[in-house]
Amino acid sequence: MTPIWPDHLFLVGCGNMAGQMLARWLACGLDPARVTVLRPSGKPVAEGVQVVTDYPSALPARTTVLLGMKPYQLGDVAASLAPLCGGDTRIVSILAGTRLAELRARFAQAGEIVRAMPNLPVGIGEGVTALHADAALPAASRGAVEAFIAPLGLAEWIADEGQFNEVTALSGCGPAFLFRFIDAFARAGEALGLPADQSARMALATVRGSASMAARASESPAILADRVASPGGMTRQGLNVLDADERLLKLLTDTLAAARDRGEEMARGG
Ligand SMILES: NC(=O)c1ccc[n+]([C@@H]2O[C@H](COP(=O)([O-])OP(=O)(O)OC[C@H]3O[C@@H](n4cnc5c(N)ncnc54)[C@H](OP(=O)(O)O)[C@@H]3O)[C@@H](O)[C@H]2O)c1
Repeated sequence: MTPIWPDHLFLVGCGNMAGQMLARWLACGLDPARVTVLRPSGKPVAEGVQVVTDYPSALPARTTVLLGMKPYQLGDVAASLAPLCGGDTRIVSILAGTRLAELRARFAQAGEIVRAMPNLPVGIGEGVTALHADAALPAASRGAVEAFIAPLGLAEWIADEGQFNEVTALSGCGPAFLFRFIDAFARAGEALGLPADQSARMALATVRGSASMAARASESPAILADRVASPGGMTRQGLNVLDADERLLKLLTDTLAAARDRGEEMARGG
């Protein structure tokens, strides 16, 4: 999908996550002259990108605002930003746990509001971004948002906003779970006697190669696993361990459920 860039992009906060998104957009051709970043530290972001420490007196026409600060700062940010937003301002919020209704209440005069939940690999264009907007958001606007998010990787609309914690558990927290898996895979090789550095390299390359292969295959990963495992062979013997009592599935379900439950707890203020 060819990216469609906003006429102007105003980032509120440019830390770990928004910084990754912006870096990828710039690498894919977004003109830095169209970007303004507001961050209290005033630290430079990238050549040609204007960084400000205070709000301008007005936003350019058809600005897309990316809310990329911490969720608890929304009240302060909205107090200064909302008066600058008009019907042609699109707001994209990556604030975890902040619902559309709250954003709409804070930015009553703004145009379209979209929630986005990106994960860290967006910085290399291989991320996952879950999107949610009012059912009334026109198809053309959805298309424009998708074309803006496309350089970051996979974009998926979530119909039910109540599922954001599930989505965050899977794709938002997912990179950490997979880093842990890769590490454990390498340490398991080491436990069997392989040199640690060699096992680490081989584990990472095996995960990367298998993920790329699964992404290109027409069969599901479940079928691919069975294809690799001939009856009575080594792979089948190993899979029997992962599959016993659905051990791996249960472990991962418990992992996602714990992350989701923590999201719900935090939303209740815990
Ligand atoms: N990290 C993730 O994996 C992830 C995933 C999905 C969504 N998110 C969401 O992304 C948002 C940012 O998280 P992060 O990890 O990127 O945090 P972060 O690295 O701490 O970045 C926060 C940014 O907000 C800026 N900021 C601080 N106070 C501000 C204020 N009063 N007004 C405007 N900007 C202010 C900071 O400015 P300085 O740079 O000047 O300090 C910084 O650029 C959060 O809402 C989080 O829910 C994060």
